[in-house]
Amino acid sequence: MGSWPEYPEIDREHVEKAFTKYAEGYDLSDVKNKLKYDHTFRVAAMCDAISESLPLEKPRKDLAWLTGMLHDIGRFEQVRRYHTFRDGDSVNHAQLSADILFHDDLIRRFVSNPSKDALVEKTIRLHNVYILPDSLTEEEYRCGQDRHHARQRRDTHGGDLRPAHGGVPECPDLGFCARGYPRRAECGPS
Ligand SMILES: [Fe+2]
Repeated sequence: MGSWPEYPEIDREHVEKAFTKYAEGYDLSDVKNKLKYDHTFRVAAMCDAISESLPLEKPRKDLAWLTGMLHDIGRFEQVRRYHTFRDGDSVNHAQLSADILFHDDLIRRFVSNPSKDALVEKTIRLHNVYILPDSLTEEEYRCGQDRHHARQRRDTHGGDLRPAHGGVPECPDLGFCARGYPRRAECGPS
């Protein structure tokens, strides 16, 4: 794929159908499941909206969209097992989503090329954390874009969950840091 041969080609129509098929394995007449089904498509659309505002190449935009589609896939199982979305009363839904996708190899139903599995898994596993761990390395920052995608996922996820913000994630225009990533308030002076 051009200068991005390591990035998997994302067939969006296939991903949407595969996600719907997976969700239909649960009771979508249950308002909790339907809520998360609809939430998924809104978050994926917000990933696109944010990506469009950034100087990202199409393979990275597609990967960000993919993480939007898959980030909460464990919600259905959380509801089935515990009848709640409250992680504190049940399970960390981000960890569960990543476990279901990668320990059970569900990810292959969505994308056949495993080249960015580690990045997608880390993004989904961290999507609900308030502060990203220091264990994300400088190398990941420069080459893997893990932190960038994780931030993108985290910010977008919050956007859909905070209607007080009009459903649009806050995205202050702070320019770009020295590494070429969109600067955020916590980036510091460099
Ligand atoms: Fe989530």
